[in-house]
Amino acid sequence: MDKKLLVKTKDLRREFEFGNTKIHALDGVDLEVKEGEFIVILGPSGAGKTTLLNMIGGIDHPTSGSIEVDGEPIHEFSNKQLNDYRKEKVGWVFQFFNIVDSLRAWENVGLALEFKGLKDHKEIKAKSFDILEKVGLKGKEMRFPSQLSGGEQQRVAIARALVKKPKLIVADEPTGNLDYITGQTIAELMQKLNRQEGITFIVVSHDISITKFAECIYHLRMGKIDKVQNSISDLQYTKKIQE
Ligand SMILES: Nc1ncnc2c1ncn2[C@@H]1O[C@H](COP(=O)(O)OP(=O)(O)OP(=O)(O)O)[C@@H](O)[C@H]1O
Ligand SMILES: [Mg+2]
Repeated sequence: MDKKLLVKTKDLRREFEFGNTKIHALDGVDLEVKEGEFIVILGPSGAGKTTLLNMIGGIDHPTSGSIEVDGEPIHEFSNKQLNDYRKEKVGWVFQFFNIVDSLRAWENVGLALEFKGLKDHKEIKAKSFDILEKVGLKGKEMRFPSQLSGGEQQRVAIARALVKKPKLIVADEPTGNLDYITGQTIAELMQKLNRQEGITFIVVSHDISITKFAECIYHLRMGKIDKVQNSISDLQYTKKIQE
């Protein structure tokens, strides 16, 4: 049976006014992502990658066009609906981790559960500890971010995204602030979570090495998107079009 579509954008446009100029950050993006897929969107700086994730992740509204996620038209959502959508349905991972320095690893994860409405301290702690074990941080739950390496901080951020049990995780340059080897282990972790938990991943990156984890690779350039290939072997081609 065909997999269900989880994300579908149609003629998605986002314009920004800057002085007298209009920037077409997204210039008619059609993208379909099926449930359980791991897709990577490559593109140079300024291509519109973050803008696209902001639309899919419910942070920003499109100028025109549509986005359906899990059958719901999120481009029509009110701010309140978008707020709930962000809290419940979609996990975010960022380049600079965006975890709270004054909170311990488990408390950073617990925050996502509190936002979701959980109140029981013991339950929040237990769930946070469980998820931290899943991302390889057993024994480091009580540490503050400054007591963790960059890769470990990104694991905390992934745990925070994961603990909501989202169908979808969007990641904006998740390896961009890590050395090559650490970046690869983070990509492997995301791939493991994709395979074991069936979570759909949309990852945007400059980093070509991350494409080996992808089922589908797209190329975004000047607000327009193309599918590169279905296989992950033809890296030369990906390299060429990224130049
Ligand atoms: N709030 C804004 N106001 C005006 N222009 C914006 C705004 N946000 C983004 N842009 C412009 O939209 C285009 C796409 O930006 P975006 O941040 O999506 O690029 P990106 O692909 O994520 O780049 P990078 O790889 O550098 O993060 C750029 O030309 C950028 O300058
Ligand atoms: Mg960006």
